Amino acid sequence: VAIGQATGEKKNEVVLAADILGISTLVALQNNQDPQGESPSALLGPFWRANAPDCACGDSIARSGTPGVPLFVSGVVRDGQGRPLADAMVDVWQASPVGLYENQDPTQENMNLRGRFRTDAEGRYHFRSVRPAGYPVPVDGPCGVLLKAQRRHPNRPAHLHFMVSKPGFKVLVSQVYADDDENLESDPTFGVTRRLIGRYALQPDGKSATLAYDFQLEPGETKFPRPPIP
Ligand SMILES: [Fe+2]
Repeated sequence: VAIGQATGEKKNEVVLAADILGISTLVALQNNQDPQGESPSALLGPFWRANAPDCACGDSIARSGTPGVPLFVSGVVRDGQGRPLADAMVDVWQASPVGLYENQDPTQENMNLRGRFRTDAEGRYHFRSVRPAGYPVPVDGPCGVLLKAQRRHPNRPAHLHFMVSKPGFKVLVSQVYADDDENLESDPTFGVTRRLIGRYALQPDGKSATLAYDFQLEPGETKFPRPPIP
């Protein structure tokens, strides 16, 4: 009853309950089994926005001068036969180095840490950003009480969100987790699987990091989700 009563226009405690009980991730896993070796999917989450800025490969999505450890992300998008997919869209969004998405944080400009990239003729994408931080799921409602009763913490491990698409292929919604995060084994939404862990490699200068992560798409209907926020 409390979960229902805490749900309204601004907040969906029912979805949060499904997330922290593992139901959301279970449904995602059941609906995205990978017999052909497609990339694993992960939850869309509440922070995706449609129409993020179109960027050129190499651009930075940290547009607010966001302080943090510089991060260089690159990879290749392929089909089931391992052939590179040109002109695939790589839509990325992430929390800042203090764990806030731009729509939660008045110090970040609109659409900061969000961008859409197109793969080149060899299927490659690359962009610059800053390392994201983990963040807690909301604990101000009954789900917070439930987590506490279960002696679980609310902190999601740091991650980048990706939505990778190309007409004729299923839209891949995923998250790539930082391999050095202390909460990989205890994500409150049970979202981390081995294949979703990316290597955030600290460079010899000790001041920047790289992440290389490839995606493989499965042929099918190209259907985009409804954005949870405008
Ligand atoms: Fe997230």
